[in-house]
Amino acid sequence: MALSLLLLMICVGFGDAHKSIPTTLEGPFKPFTREMDPKLRLGSEDLPQYDPRVVKRAAAIFPEQISLALSTPDAMWVSWVTGDSQMGPKVTPLDPSTVKSVVEYGTASETYDQSATGTSEVYNQFYPFPDVLNYTSGIIHHVRITGLQPNTYYYYRCGDPTLAAMSGEYVFKTLPEPGPANYPTRIAVIGDLGLTYNSTSTIDHLRQNNPDLVLMVGDLSYANLYVTNGTGSDDYGRSFGKITPIHETYQPRWDMWQRMMEPLISEVPMMVIEGNHELETQINNESFVAYKARFAVPSTESNSGTSMYYSFNAGGIHIVMLGAYVDFNKSSEQYSWLEQDLAKVDRSLTPWIIVLTHPPWYNSYLAHYREVECMRQAMEDLTYKYGVDLFFHGHVHAYERINRLYKYKYDPCGPVYITVGDGGNHEKLAVEHADEEGLCPIPTKTPDKNFAYLSGFCGFNFSNGQFCWDKQPDWSAWRDSSFGHGIIEVVNSTHLLWTWHRNQDHYDEVVGDQIYIVRQPEFCSNQNVIRMSTSFAEG
Ligand SMILES: [Fe+2]
Ligand SMILES: [Fe+2]
Repeated sequence: MALSLLLLMICVGFGDAHKSIPTTLEGPFKPFTREMDPKLRLGSEDLPQYDPRVVKRAAAIFPEQISLALSTPDAMWVSWVTGDSQMGPKVTPLDPSTVKSVVEYGTASETYDQSATGTSEVYNQFYPFPDVLNYTSGIIHHVRITGLQPNTYYYYRCGDPTLAAMSGEYVFKTLPEPGPANYPTRIAVIGDLGLTYNSTSTIDHLRQNNPDLVLMVGDLSYANLYVTNGTGSDDYGRSFGKITPIHETYQPRWDMWQRMMEPLISEVPMMVIEGNHELETQINNESFVAYKARFAVPSTESNSGTSMYYSFNAGGIHIVMLGAYVDFNKSSEQYSWLEQDLAKVDRSLTPWIIVLTHPPWYNSYLAHYREVECMRQAMEDLTYKYGVDLFFHGHVHAYERINRLYKYKYDPCGPVYITVGDGGNHEKLAVEHADEEGLCPIPTKTPDKNFAYLSGFCGFNFSNGQFCWDKQPDWSAWRDSSFGHGIIEVVNSTHLLWTWHRNQDHYDEVVGDQIYIVRQPEFCSNQNVIRMSTSFAEG
């Protein structure tokens, strides 16, 4: 009796959920474009340097900009900054060895029975030209704390105990260990965040969803919308070269951005992948210097050896961060690494595979239309072969969900692609679509733009006979030019609920997109590959 009641409750509950929320099993969905709220076209201004959310409050040697990132399931990266950054015609880099990198931690508040030490560094953004200023960072500390139990709260503080310069106490909860029934409760996904009043609105909304993990799909601080005297420009396309000898950046915006993020990411790990705004090329052709110095990622742990691409597990999800601004061709190191990484995934342990890379492989907005066809054409066979379930992208400052797709054709075993480049940065929302009358770009003037030396005209190799569609393409399921963030809730090894929350909506009403993404491993052989561990296979 009790069992049948329980079964009935489960059926009713599950039935209710499915009554109103579509599943990918019902796809492909008819194209839908939400009418835009014209007020959102205005975007919003960047936070000024005196905003309390971005002002430095820690004394020089005390930690600030504290953040977490996942390492292996039993370890976590803790990062922070000490000392003052400098901006001026002549700057003298700080000596990282003057402040130790120590994290003290334990499972009870103010009981730190474990400690770990790490490394520290400074980075420079030098522009050796008259009237252009130089930047050198504070001391950036990264410590990997290990031996963590799953699903456990850890209390920690960081700093240099020998200088009596420790932070206050912070707390985080570890994720469940990998397993087909073990998932984080909620994972937030954001892109192209920036540092505007829309950005802070997005983070405020995101925090109401209380995520266990944040995935940040590139274009973070937009420090390169500023010149070195701190004056902003309105868009990335501004021709810096005509005014100054190099595309300048204003690195203090990075410090401000990390202060804005600290209340969230000192307690919830955030995983980043680079966008084009992280490029920040210097005169010696060095690039991504701030990105690489500021963020600890599991590059060694995932054998990539670089922050530009890497992977990790979040419970029963294998998450791959792909670099669109580093070589991705079939002969590249990244491609070989990706092949090895995907080949190792044991889907009896991590049934889900999610990939993030900044620019969208499929996009029907005019902004960045067919901009990374070379990357898609190089890698899509590989990601399809290994049954990637879901892609997230940014770069296009709007929301779009693509039907399950493979080579521009609906495929029930292909991934769902979702663009969430609508975090709220200063460059405003993408509004126009390439299928609108008179807006289709000229193919011969649309080279791939994701990296200068990789540029080609792969977008020209279209196979469907047309470069643009004359209406919303049948592969584009949902378009909405609004700011927001997304939430992943994995139900089990076959069902994942995706909800996109718009900033203009109330917290408890879902006006944005919502869908169950359903895996079919019994139907899609690419989603059901069980790998044996090397030792077992050799044995
Ligand atoms: Fe971008
Ligand atoms: Fe962007």
